[in-house]
Amino acid sequence: MKSTSLTAVALIALSGIEGFVTPSSHCHRLRHGVRDMSLSASVEVESQQYALLFDCDGVIIETEELHRLAYNAAFNEFNLKIENEPVEWTVAYYDILQNTVGGGKNKMFFHFRNTTKAFPTFEDGKPAPTTPEEEQDLVDRLQARKTNLYKELIAEKAKARPGVLELMDEALANENIRVGVCSASTKEAVTKVLDVTLGEERRKKLDVCILGDDVSKLKPDPLIYTTAAERLNIDPSRCVVVEDSVVGLKAAKGAGMRCIITYTTSTENEDFYSLGCDAKVPELGSKGVTLDMVFGPMKANGLDAEILVGVKD
Ligand SMILES: *[C@@H]1O[C@H](CO)[C@@H](O)[C@H](O)[C@H]1NC(C)=O
Repeated sequence: MKSTSLTAVALIALSGIEGFVTPSSHCHRLRHGVRDMSLSASVEVESQQYALLFDCDGVIIETEELHRLAYNAAFNEFNLKIENEPVEWTVAYYDILQNTVGGGKNKMFFHFRNTTKAFPTFEDGKPAPTTPEEEQDLVDRLQARKTNLYKELIAEKAKARPGVLELMDEALANENIRVGVCSASTKEAVTKVLDVTLGEERRKKLDVCILGDDVSKLKPDPLIYTTAAERLNIDPSRCVVVEDSVVGLKAAKGAGMRCIITYTTSTENEDFYSLGCDAKVPELGSKGVTLDMVFGPMKANGLDAEILVGVKD
């Protein structure tokens, strides 16, 4: 491995070309030209390939606020009241829920059973449910409505986080960088989010897209990232993942990849560095993260080189 990457570095140096340009200018995305070259040349081309892999929820878009708005809109439609007060989740309270219980229905049960200790009246004065079956039925109906409201909000409001599109476009334009999305969400949900945030044209340019439906084990298991590396035929040590959470960081490091964290308000207090994070920034955009800050040091100083030097937290 070491000698092939040295050869690659030497080749780039000899060709006198800055950046990630392959010796063959005919070698476009997915390396169609490689097959025609001699074996030794194809090894050298191969060794210069890198991958940039994005998580979706939290990284490409901040979904947490949209989830919160969708819950509140559903509560409002159902006219939920506890002791005559409407049910509404604040930003601070939703953060607590987010870090306490997983899954939407569990969040509602936690709110009604643990926080307020009272199920709400609903739908213009219908009495609060009293049996576990009635409680489950109310929560099921709220969740179903919330899911639809969430989809509407995504279609209306989803925007990529600052700097994501810029970095992705730079990577897509570079023939030596493969680009992918690896998300635990279902195919339907992610495709919708990606079409709205990236646009269909950019989404179709992605070299790989591995979704929750595609793998048997979800993050923090590394399977989603090892699968991406296998499909791209790129060694994990040449892959850089962008994540926003501890769960995603563990998956990336477990796969043997570099990991950049773009944190959100709900994850900013996590100690990402002690868990092996390679660089942490609030937003790619606010720190002006470029492709060269990510892959430049790896290319110049080896695959373990410090990345995002001078811009990371
Ligand atoms: C909610 O309350 C129940 C019953 O008191 C308790 O067993 C459970 O651990 C609480 N849940 C959380 C997440 O704190």
